Amino acid sequence: MHINRNADIIPQVDGLAYGGDYNPEQWPREVWDEDLRLMREAGVNLVSVNIFAWAGINPAPGVWDFARLDDVMDHLAAGGVRADLATATASPPPWFSQAHPESLPVDAEGHRLHYGARAEYCPSAPAYQAAVVEMAGRLAERYADHPALAMWHVGNEYYRSCHCDASAAAFQTWLAERHGDLDGLNDAWGTTFWSQTYTDWSQVLPPRLCAETPSPGLVLDWRRFCSDALLNLFRSEAEAIERHSPDKPITTNLMVSGDFAAVDYHRWGPHVTGPRRLVATDHYLIPEGPIPWPAQVAFGADASRGLAGGSPWLLMEQSSNSSAWRRGYFAKKPGDQLRHSLSYVARGSEGAMFFQWRASRYGAERYHSAMLPHGGTDSKVWREIVEFGDRLKRIAEVKGSTVDSRAAILLDFESVWAAQTPGQPSADMDTYPELRRWHSALWHRGVTADLADPAWDLDGYEYVFAPHLYLLDTDANLRAYVENGGTLVVGPYSGIVDGNDHVHPGLPGALRDLIGVRVEEFVPVAKGATVALDDGTEGRTWTEVAHALDAEVQASFADYPGTPALFRRRLGRGEVWYLSTRPVDLDPLFDRLGLAPDFDGGAEGLELVRRSHEDGRSYVFAINHTDDTVPVPAKGTDLLTGEPWDSSRTLGPGESAVIKER
Ligand code: GAL
Repeated sequence: MHINRNADIIPQVDGLAYGGDYNPEQWPREVWDEDLRLMREAGVNLVSVNIFAWAGINPAPGVWDFARLDDVMDHLAAGGVRADLATATASPPPWFSQAHPESLPVDAEGHRLHYGARAEYCPSAPAYQAAVVEMAGRLAERYADHPALAMWHVGNEYYRSCHCDASAAAFQTWLAERHGDLDGLNDAWGTTFWSQTYTDWSQVLPPRLCAETPSPGLVLDWRRFCSDALLNLFRSEAEAIERHSPDKPITTNLMVSGDFAAVDYHRWGPHVTGPRRLVATDHYLIPEGPIPWPAQVAFGADASRGLAGGSPWLLMEQSSNSSAWRRGYFAKKPGDQLRHSLSYVARGSEGAMFFQWRASRYGAERYHSAMLPHGGTDSKVWREIVEFGDRLKRIAEVKGSTVDSRAAILLDFESVWAAQTPGQPSADMDTYPELRRWHSALWHRGVTADLADPAWDLDGYEYVFAPHLYLLDTDANLRAYVENGGTLVVGPYSGIVDGNDHVHPGLPGALRDLIGVRVEEFVPVAKGATVALDDGTEGRTWTEVAHALDAEVQASFADYPGTPALFRRRLGRGEVWYLSTRPVDLDPLFDRLGLAPDFDGGAEGLELVRRSHEDGRSYVFAINHTDDTVPVPAKGTDLLTGEPWDSSRTLGPGESAVIKER
């Protein structure tokens, strides 16, 4: 992979960034002094301010009042804490929604939502579009040279979509650009099916509730459109900022870990990477489910690093303990937060930020955990917050170093969306859970893998895994990767449709020549059931009646003797493997590939990741997620303790080290 090294992506912050969302508008002025005192105690050097403060700055049409924000910014500057200054546009206040009712979002059933919460806007509403540009411009003009300003934070977690008439009109314009004319649109969506041919642009609607299964082509284009509509909002604010504040980085808190794949982050990539742009991610763990927390953390981090092209990125939000909105209250065990935060940094984050600094006394998130919890400073959470702040200072020299992964897992948002379109042969062939499962299996094996787009330059990776790449126009990039010596592993039901969600002729379409396999028939497997393979392994969810055209059969289904399940094809200097089922256990496959862990001698559950500087300085992050004492195969000095480290040293249960290598 080609790493873009940005010299200092978070200027004015000494060392690694540490802090969280800071909402002083919820607190009386006297609390602010205590905030600063405690921030200093914890080593906080960056806070995100003004994210939900529209109502204070612009309390009525044409009325602007920056007194409180001036005070907040001056207070931070005086206390030596920098601001990630937000544009406050994510939550229009009631007066705005009342004055512009057409700016409230409409759902797929045609209900216009009422105001009363947040993110209540239609991305295509002209009044909202104009308001956010004005807001961003005014803030940038006022605070461009403020000593507290470290960077700009546009909006908050872009995900909103709207099915109103203004959105329909914007969708029509977007479609005309994409497909040229109505003939192009009719072809792309296959509107001869069920007699849905459009004869006028005004007939084209968002995917509103209709009587039966809607057109998959329409649904897919709608998701692309929604992502672009949000990107336009982000860009319009970023441009308004840059007019007044050209030298400060601009970011927004993305949700790259995929729980809400509302936007195509890879399409957003050029606008959130490069000079004066920063990939920042929010990541909240799923309390229950098959993937253990440390592997979830790694997934969020590796997806963010992938999006950043290997450059440093920033964990903008995580929770110190429970995220109240995640199916009820849960608590992190002692040490979890320390390990999670360190793991994000190990995987390229330039610090660790939280939602939020101080727990709110009121509002929908009053039971959400914070750096400073309701329980106060005599608490596990606070002690760990202070401890982690201290750790970040000790390892500050890792700032600017990068992680070089040997492996990648392919993630394509259009493919994720296409696989979710209605009318699929199986309801269980979702993409994200499968990507997470493969990533988790690699994590257990000690292999760090970027989440990468199939169209990117993949040449630096030894292994590329495509567990589910349903939509693919052409195999060209993957073929080049294999021919140049890469090992590509493709999961079933991949390469099936083109960019319009039309089934490629000759299954599995775009990948048939590359993998040398012909698929005759899909045979989905019932949820919970498994199928046996003749090598003793099992498959689940999906099988295919498949035949080798130009590939070696490695294993077959036991119940359909002679029906192959695993294929290998050598091509050029590399090889491609194809699976016609989803393996229950991925380890036997990794064994066949000879996939070794990144580090020799690491125990399972001991997370080992290396960050390196261009000048050769390198650091091994060792995080013991197990209940055992484990050896750590590294030599150097542990920056957390200052003590020398050699391969005879061990880490106790739950302990960590950051070893500067000799
Ligand atoms: C994020 C959001 C924050 C806060 C947090 C709680 O998604 O950006 O404002 O709501 O969740 O977990």
